[in-house]
Amino acid sequence: MSFSFGFTNDDLSGDELDQSSTPSQPPQARALDTLVTPKENLPQRHTLAQLCSTLLNVRITFDNYTTPGGNLIYRRELFDVKHQIMSEDEGSTQLGEMLLDEQSDLQRNVYEGGFKSWECAYDAVDKLASGQVEMSSVLEYGCGTALPSCFILLRKFTSGDKNSLRITLSDFNYDVLRLVTLPNLIINWASTLPVEKLHALTTSEENPVFNNDEVLLTQQLIQEFTSALNEFNIELDFISGAWGNQFNELVTSQTSVDFMISSETIYSPDILPVVAESIVEILSRTNGTAKCMVAAKNIYFGVGGSVIEFVNYFDKVSESKFIMEVEEINDSQLKRSLVMIEKK
Ligand SMILES: C[S@@+](CC[C@H](N)C(=O)[O-])C[C@H]1O[C@@H](n2cnc3c(N)ncnc32)[C@H](O)[C@@H]1O
Repeated sequence: MSFSFGFTNDDLSGDELDQSSTPSQPPQARALDTLVTPKENLPQRHTLAQLCSTLLNVRITFDNYTTPGGNLIYRRELFDVKHQIMSEDEGSTQLGEMLLDEQSDLQRNVYEGGFKSWECAYDAVDKLASGQVEMSSVLEYGCGTALPSCFILLRKFTSGDKNSLRITLSDFNYDVLRLVTLPNLIINWASTLPVEKLHALTTSEENPVFNNDEVLLTQQLIQEFTSALNEFNIELDFISGAWGNQFNELVTSQTSVDFMISSETIYSPDILPVVAESIVEILSRTNGTAKCMVAAKNIYFGVGGSVIEFVNYFDKVSESKFIMEVEEINDSQLKRSLVMIEKK
């Protein structure tokens, strides 16, 4: 294993130094084996057709964002997600109420932050843009707005690459998958269409409005999206629910993951071991090359997770079967890292 951090001890307070200089004890039992998932949070697979059916004739407002590395990516606006929640009957669910009241970015076992795009998602996009990674089955573990997967899709459509690709998108919340993950994938694909075609697919006599920052998800547009996925040999798979042994079984029952992406998922000291063990488990089930990119803030102040803690824990549970490299991103006050993991 090789890794290096660019920060000095001056960047850390006394508490963090204590944490980083005292190696964690070897785990007694795997966190995955002690985790108990409540029935209502068990992982479930959803098809593209199921999710699309909840979006039919919804007008999506989006914006484009430029990553620190200068890459353009499209994303549904958060106010527009709130608008859809309010206009649906289920707007009165606990999750809907939390989002509308802006109570918190996270609420353990209810909402884990998937509606927002977190800073490190942009770093993951930049890393993907900086080179080609061989991949045929991607898992975005804790995808939320799924900007890295959107970028992979965007690049596939613009490059004309028709090698088969499966992308599994997972989020704790089903509503995140249907209200931001899938809309973002559709918007990024739609951005590759000639404007006349997009106009024809999204307007009609009854609905003539065609704005630069909106797209109406008509039946024709959804059909065209599905045909484009088929033409480019892309399969989208969606899993909602909590991580754990059941989740790992469900993902690998249908595919061998050769590239895993996980952005901003190691913020909690309770769940960080589950993330590390799941990466080991999922990649170990793949024959041949398998890689993972973990994008994270160096330290999650106030919550407790950190890159150091993750690297130490991963090192212990991976039994030297993986190579790990840490690249620090130092372009602002907010120190972030990309942990690149590869099965030996
Ligand atoms: C802070 S959000 C980051 C979202 C996105 N990757 C980004 O960087 O913008 C954390 C993500 O991890 C997922 N997550 C966190 N804890 C989870 C758990 N115990 N089980 C399943 N998913 C979880 C959430 O659903 C969410 O997608």
